[in-house]
Parts: sequence; structure tokens; C-alpha cells
Amino acid sequence: MKAKIVLLPGDGIGGEVVRETVRVLELMAARRGHTFEFTERLIGGGSIDQHGTALTDEALADCRASDAVLLGAVGGPKWDDPAAKVRPEQGILALRKGLGVFANLRPVRAHPALAGASPLRPEKLAGVDLVVVRELTGGLYFGQPKKREVIDGRERAVDTLEYWDYEVRRILELAFRLAQDRRRRLTSVDKANILESSRMWRAIAMRMAAEHENILLEHMLVDTAAMRLVANPAGFDVLVTENMFGDILTDEAAVLAGSMGMLPSASLGDGGPGLYEPIHGSAPDIAGQGIANPLGTILSAALLLRYSLHLEAEARAIEDAVDAAITAGCRTADLGGGLSTRQMTDEILARLRDAA
Ligand code: IPM
Ligand code: MG
Repeated sequence: MKAKIVLLPGDGIGGEVVRETVRVLELMAARRGHTFEFTERLIGGGSIDQHGTALTDEALADCRASDAVLLGAVGGPKWDDPAAKVRPEQGILALRKGLGVFANLRPVRAHPALAGASPLRPEKLAGVDLVVVRELTGGLYFGQPKKREVIDGRERAVDTLEYWDYEVRRILELAFRLAQDRRRRLTSVDKANILESSRMWRAIAMRMAAEHENILLEHMLVDTAAMRLVANPAGFDVLVTENMFGDILTDEAAVLAGSMGMLPSASLGDGGPGLYEPIHGSAPDIAGQGIANPLGTILSAALLLRYSLHLEAEARAIEDAVDAAITAGCRTADLGGGLSTRQMTDEILARLRDAA
């Protein structure tokens, strides 16, 4: 098959992990007879420096015209001034909104060989295999009004947690469907004891449960969910939640996998190009050293093959190669090892060559 993939390396370690991941995609293409056409564009701090904005209209248009978008990470100390009008993160938000990718899937598995890399006890991690479905284009990140103002000499800041019923329905629908293909347990995470938006969310989820009778739906308050994620993580199958709750819970869930560097994500909408990115940030502290863990991005590429290009066998092959490399003891610095970004990728490539 032929596919157009836009690469948005971004800032910090973003370029390092995306560059290595492209080698994996190119190997898959060569081995399985596909043609991937890569186009690279700026996003984040690099785009601010060059164009004064974190994502240009042209770059967004190229993403829209593609089959899938692979993003590294954005941000860094250079653009961290809280008073700045333009921020790297605006690029990601504009991209998510511009592509209409309302569902962010963040699968979390605890590989047995990485149990030692997690601060949790190994017996807690046994059997952990969950997916957080994070609503991505609404909620507290996008609600209006959003402002800072000075009133009678005092400063005030406002963010708004806002949802329309259709936004809640479509993310829940996707989560129900995902649960259907898995262990058929869905945890809807909210704060319905306090927030009006959560009460609407919960009411919609309860109504939808009637249409999905074979799925076991439970409702959980977000603070309880945060506690359960470390107290009994193996008890979860699919979780679905508001944008910012999902942001927070998935950093927490990364602890289960041993490192932020391990976790991939897929952001999907209504049939347009999907957006794939590791959940980690630009890691300015290690940028430029070539030691970042590429696996979160490589696993994101696997999700890209699965969801946007419908190449399930290819996606599986990459995931199996990552599993095998981890089992064999391959480790980057975040996992207490000594492999560079390139060496870790070489380990994946070697296993893919043997398998294909
Ligand atoms: C994430 C990140 C982003 C978010 C930032 C970089 C805008 O933390 O993808 O989880 O908050 O969504
Ligand atoms: Mg985050």
C-alpha cells in the first residue's frame, strides 16, 4: 500500500525518537512491499522560532491531507516564559483540534521483565493491561471562557470545563467498542459528586449502557481512580475520561510500564488522519545526547499502522519485536540500561529482520 505520513519531530528529544522510528517504518515498508512517503514539518518551539506560531496553517493543511501524522514532542526551557503569548503546546492543541482527533487511546501494559523498573511491587503489576481513552478536543483544555484579566487591580484567571452531549457520546461510544474487543469492562471516570459536566457525562454513560449490555460498565470518581491505578491496576480494562483527568491519569499509569518512555498513543477522530505520539514530553534534560527511549514512539508507529493504515500484521510485528527486545534485556537509560536511542532501535530492527 501507499501512504502519506507527515512527521512532526518537534523539540528536544522529539527529533531523536522520530528519526529512529522512521527507520522502523522504512524497514516495514521495504519488507512488506509498502510505500510510505514522509514529509517533515515544524511544530512547537521550532515553529515559533521560524514562523512566530507553534503550528502554521500550511503545516496543519499538510497533516490534514495525509494518511497519518507522527509527532515527537514539543516544548523546552527556551519557550517556557509563563508570560509568553505563544507557547509550543499550542501547536499540539491546534493540531488535535484541527484534525478533529477527539479520542486519545493510551494503552498501558506492564511487561514482566520491566517490573523492576517500576516503584510498585511486582505482584501489583502482574497482568496489567489497560487502555485509557482520553477525550482530547474538549473539556478543561478547550472550554470557553478561558482568560486572564485584571479587575479593580486584582488579577483573575478562568478555565472552563465544558462538554456538549454529542462530544461525550462519541467518546463513550468509542470506548464501549474498544471494550467489546477486549475484556468487556469499561470504567467511566468522572467527578460527578462535584462537577455538573461529570453529572451529564455519567447520565449519558448510564443511558448508553443499555445499548451495550454485554459490557460491564462501572463509574468511578477520578480521585478513586487515581488511587486504584496504583493499588489494583490489574483490575482495569478500558477507562474513559475527560481530557485533563486523562492527561493526569496517564502520567500516573506510565509508572506501571516502568517509564514514561514506553507509552505510545493514538488519537483518532471520524475517519480523518490519525495522530500518533509518545505520551512523554521533550525531555530537555537529556535532549541532544542520543539516549532517549525510542520505544514509546516506535509503539506509536505500530498503532499508526494498525489504526490508520489497517496493517495489523505489521503493527503486531513491531509490538512483538519490542516485547522480545525487552525480554532479552535491552534497556535505555530511563530503564536503568546503557543503550543509546539508536542502539535500542537497532535491536528492534534486527528482530524485525529475523521475523519478516
Ligand atoms: C500529553 C501532554 C500534552 C497534554 C501537552 C504537551 C500539551 O502532556 O500529551 O499528555 O497536556 O495533552
Ligand atoms: Mg500529559
